[in-house]
Amino acid sequence: MDLAYATQIAPEEFAQRRRRSLAQMQENSVAVIFSAREQVRNNDNCYPFRQDSYFWYLTGFNEPDAVLLLLKTDNQTRSILFLRPADPLQEIWHGRRLGVANAPTALNVDAAYEIDEFAPRFAELTRNLTALYHKAAQQPWGDQLLTQSAVHFAQVLCWAPILDELRLFKSRCETALMQQAGQISALAHIRAMRQTRPNRLEYEIESEMLHEFARFGARYPAYNSIVAGGSNACILHYTENDQALKDGELVLIDAGCEFAMYAGDITRTFPVNGKFSPAQRDIYQLVLCAQKRAIELLVAGNTIQQANDEVIRIKVRGLIALGILHGDETMLIENQAYRRFYMHGLGHWLGLDVHDVGRYHNRHHPDADQHLRDRPLESGMVLTVEPGLYIPADGDIPAQYRGIGVRIEDNILITEYGNKILTGAAPKEIEDIERLMAETR
Ligand code: GLY
Ligand code: MN
Ligand code: MN
Repeated sequence: MDLAYATQIAPEEFAQRRRRSLAQMQENSVAVIFSAREQVRNNDNCYPFRQDSYFWYLTGFNEPDAVLLLLKTDNQTRSILFLRPADPLQEIWHGRRLGVANAPTALNVDAAYEIDEFAPRFAELTRNLTALYHKAAQQPWGDQLLTQSAVHFAQVLCWAPILDELRLFKSRCETALMQQAGQISALAHIRAMRQTRPNRLEYEIESEMLHEFARFGARYPAYNSIVAGGSNACILHYTENDQALKDGELVLIDAGCEFAMYAGDITRTFPVNGKFSPAQRDIYQLVLCAQKRAIELLVAGNTIQQANDEVIRIKVRGLIALGILHGDETMLIENQAYRRFYMHGLGHWLGLDVHDVGRYHNRHHPDADQHLRDRPLESGMVLTVEPGLYIPADGDIPAQYRGIGVRIEDNILITEYGNKILTGAAPKEIEDIERLMAETR
């Protein structure tokens, strides 16, 4: 891909996103999008700042305490930004600010004002407008600021349906960044496979991955990493990561970096000692077979639901063959008996958020079943494919399978020709994993 080394979105693309949003808004309306704020971790010490994904999507501006207005009147559309003023003393202590004077040129907006002027200016700018687009609770400080500005609109709408739909379809530049996120995340999984040894601690392996993310320019993980040895893999959101990895067990790692604001989301499961046992192989091959079949099916025109139905069929058939499930395949599917071993979805949209925005069901109307994932896939969508099997250590399960948890997760881009795996650099075939692990032992 010719943009594979992009590290950022071009300024014109942010302007284009604002134009596309404005085009879908009613006449005589305003959309208000708030930035994130610094979040206190303790006392006067903050978490690393992460911009609000919607605000970033429309501005590419990475400061807190800012507001974007998209104004649409009969004869013009305007983008107006409120932001923190330049302040030499604050900047010596806390870092550089863009400042009001630089904002129009740097960010391609029509006007910029100090954030402290928001309430009076908002009242003035929106006089005679009939509709407000706002997403309540997205940024609670924004809800408060709007209340303080005390402007009344005949109609209050939510901008999320417009922006979610835009964000769902990735541009060429976005897919290039996501490919980088996938590639760096894959390199971190390779490092984890190389560095894993019996008796190393889960967080030691986590630290190897964070190191690999950061050295390729992805300073933060896209979500809290899961490094789960043995039966910890059966706890879906295990993040303690503080146990020793044991010889003879598997380790499940679900970790991905955030690169240029875009998430990678990879899971790999591999043996701590570098060699799969026969029972581990049985479960692993079943998940791998289901995952590869799902990737074949996840192409334009098909739905996540269809692929997941096939994944369920493969798993149920496999679990019967292994003596973990008993009975008739069709009945077991109908009764959802598989949910004891596979209790999450097949995958999710991926983008600025790890669980990215976008509608999953096919129909717009309010009665549509929001839980169905029956929306046909289209070119430009990026999603994860992450089937898993988590076998509880219960008395009715054949002893050799108890406590085995396996998930295999890749990220794919739907294209005109099928799909493109963004995370393929992380090995997932048993022979490839065992070969890689043998090299460093
Ligand atoms: N890492 C979060 C997920 O796989 O959904
Ligand atoms: Mn994941
Ligand atoms: Mn995922």
